[in-house]
Amino acid sequence: MSSLNVLLVGTGRMAETHAQRFAEIPGVSVLAAVDVNADRVQRFSAMHGIAHSHTQLDEALAAHRLDAVSVVTPDALHAPVTLQCLAAGLPVLCEKPLSDSMQTSQDMVAAANRADVLNMVNLSYRVSGALHLAREWVDQGRIGEIRHVEASYRQSWLCSPYWGEWSTEEAWLWRLSTAHGSSGVLGDIGIHILDFVTAGVGMDITGLQCRLHTFDKAPENRIGEYVLDANDSCVLNMQMENGALGVVHMSRFQTGYFNDLSLTLHGTQGALQLSTGQCGDKLRACLGEDRHIPQWQDVEVVAQPDTFERFVGALKKGETGSPDFAHAALLQHYLQRCLDSHEQGRWLDCDPLR
Ligand SMILES: NC(=O)c1ccc[n+]([C@@H]2O[C@H](COP(=O)([O-])OP(=O)(O)OC[C@H]3O[C@@H](n4cnc5c(N)ncnc54)[C@H](O)[C@@H]3O)[C@@H](O)[C@H]2O)c1
Repeated sequence: MSSLNVLLVGTGRMAETHAQRFAEIPGVSVLAAVDVNADRVQRFSAMHGIAHSHTQLDEALAAHRLDAVSVVTPDALHAPVTLQCLAAGLPVLCEKPLSDSMQTSQDMVAAANRADVLNMVNLSYRVSGALHLAREWVDQGRIGEIRHVEASYRQSWLCSPYWGEWSTEEAWLWRLSTAHGSSGVLGDIGIHILDFVTAGVGMDITGLQCRLHTFDKAPENRIGEYVLDANDSCVLNMQMENGALGVVHMSRFQTGYFNDLSLTLHGTQGALQLSTGQCGDKLRACLGEDRHIPQWQDVEVVAQPDTFERFVGALKKGETGSPDFAHAALLQHYLQRCLDSHEQGRWLDCDPLR
């Protein structure tokens, strides 16, 4: 079989991962790259051995025989780029979040359904073996009926320079300033932890109440013209389809952790505790008679194929892939409900989208 030709759209920081991972998968070639910045796309293509560089998407779509597109542009450009590729009948792997609004996310889901092609979103923590095994055990009923959920996405880069001097460098403004397009900790990592929760419990969220907070943290709380006004911390109360209650924390002030996700599922027959990220990928279980002591056991886990391997696998077999655009749109809906709940100061139902 000839190699699958991928077009990469956007050649910034995250595109490095896309180019490297696709290059490592046998039978895949990144044939061409597009970026509105001509110097950047040429440098990027030279570095990764990509044969063709373009500054216009329509030019790239017309010039090559392509099998798929990987979209790695800034969030607000995911929708226009993806819609153009779907209109050309091409399967799309899109970076998270799906887009920057509910309306455009729904447009992307509708366009993918019309085109009837593979559509996936890079929710990178699906690689967690702990998440995979925990969900398998939940589905097998090993912890009984889930009654309570605790989850956290913990970062602390606002208390330590390990990712750089955020209080002076402009590189972090996309995370810190709404005028720079940031929707804060909720927009940055909320989609990952809500994906982790819903993928772990296998249920939708039916209602939530969210509280966000932005701290004063830099000289005059600004860098140049940009005010650092994007939210830093979030606490979310939620209810799942079966009535189970849960709490989710997301913060850049959770000292003691660089970049870690955790999830504890408490069921009527036992409990599972997962953590993944910088701390490694771990699963502990308190099952059966152990729950009466209570005693926890470490469980061995096996890393799962990452998004790129799953995307290529689904492409080769002509299968649907997961997580798809519809799932990412649902996560985006939850994030919008979080913002609405914070602004209105009340509990809100999450009307199902599907
Ligand atoms: N899955 C993850 O864990 C993860 C991690 C980091 C970033 N991301 C996502 O990856 C995406 C890219 O982030 P980044 O850090 O690489 O950003 P970046 O700013 O470094 O790169 C974006 C690139 O897109 C180019 N671009 C802008 N408009 C374009 C257009 N219309 N057509 C083609 N190129 C265009 C820019 O010139 C730039 O080179 C974002 O959506 C971000 O949320 C995901």
